[in-house]
Amino acid sequence: MFTILVTGGAGYIGSHVVKELLRQAYRPLVYDNLQSGHRRAVKDALFIEGDLADQTKLRQTFETYTVDAIMHFAADCQVGESVKEPLKYYKNNVVNSIRLLETAEEFHVKKFVFSSSAAVYGEPSEIPIPEEHPCLPTNPYGETKWIFERVLQSFQYSEKLDYISLRYFNAAGADPEGELGEDHSPETHLIPIALMATLRGDAVPIFGTDYDTPDGTCIRDYIHVVDLAQAHILALKKLEGGRNSGVYNLGNGNGYSVREVIETAKKVTGKNIHSVGSPRRPGDPARLVAGSEKMKEKLGWVPGYPDLETIIETAWRWHRNHPEGYGDAR
Ligand code: UFG
Repeated sequence: MFTILVTGGAGYIGSHVVKELLRQAYRPLVYDNLQSGHRRAVKDALFIEGDLADQTKLRQTFETYTVDAIMHFAADCQVGESVKEPLKYYKNNVVNSIRLLETAEEFHVKKFVFSSSAAVYGEPSEIPIPEEHPCLPTNPYGETKWIFERVLQSFQYSEKLDYISLRYFNAAGADPEGELGEDHSPETHLIPIALMATLRGDAVPIFGTDYDTPDGTCIRDYIHVVDLAQAHILALKKLEGGRNSGVYNLGNGNGYSVREVIETAKKVTGKNIHSVGSPRRPGDPARLVAGSEKMKEKLGWVPGYPDLETIIETAWRWHRNHPEGYGDAR
């Protein structure tokens, strides 16, 4: 059985990928420090509580298990925080990722799927954004993802491994079977904030109402977390099939404004959601919409939940049934 080391496998996206790996008869081995992940999000997979900075534990893990491939999710991922605490991001997202790569090299692991981000592009000069678009990140988070992509590219050039880097646009939604969902603390993402506002009666701040977009609010491309998970399995299979390194966008190619998301959340929940115009959030580009034809054509990816209403419906089921998330107070 193929063993996949999944760093950050107790996190939002990682846990959905682990579920899909199990369904497809892989053996996921979750390595997570539980700083933002949840032990309860890892149900039937092998689990090791460990930090990537702990190279002894990392080496022990590779010694104990024969790892066939790595999926690397573990990272800090808040754009706003990265602007305030850049060093934290360079340490966790770059230095620790290099430690992982070093250990992979030592144990001859040659397949690597990397969780990258649309944040590598910065302010786009073209919509939808193709993979060839210049990468000029506008915040430290995007910078760290871009740096590590280049490290992977150098490794691949020297024939040390093959990698696929997946540049996610806005991951959203939840496991349609209701077992897994989004539980960040603090929560910064629009869809969970809008849905939780219906439960708590808060107003949703709209960060910027004067952007050069039809309704003045930022436009994003929301992609269902299960569609992201499927894309990771396809990436793994592509690497199993030979020397197929590459970079792929993952989005639906449809842009929705902040106001449109809030309106859809009202429709799905049947509840009113108060919103309040607020200042722009530093580092937010006005529009991010993916060109993801490459993923469809080359990897055969077919999104199962492309429309925003379905994405929000699955998220709503999770938040309604788990108002405290995983209930582990993190
Ligand atoms: N927003 C609000 N109010 C909120 C929360 C968000 O108006 O309370 C707005 C944001 O300003 C943004 C949009 O809603 O315009 C979406 O914001 P999210 O925080 O949900 O997502 P981001 O687009 O900021 O972040 C996503 C990924 C990041 C990635 C980034 C690239 O989650 O990992 O895209 O810019 F880095």
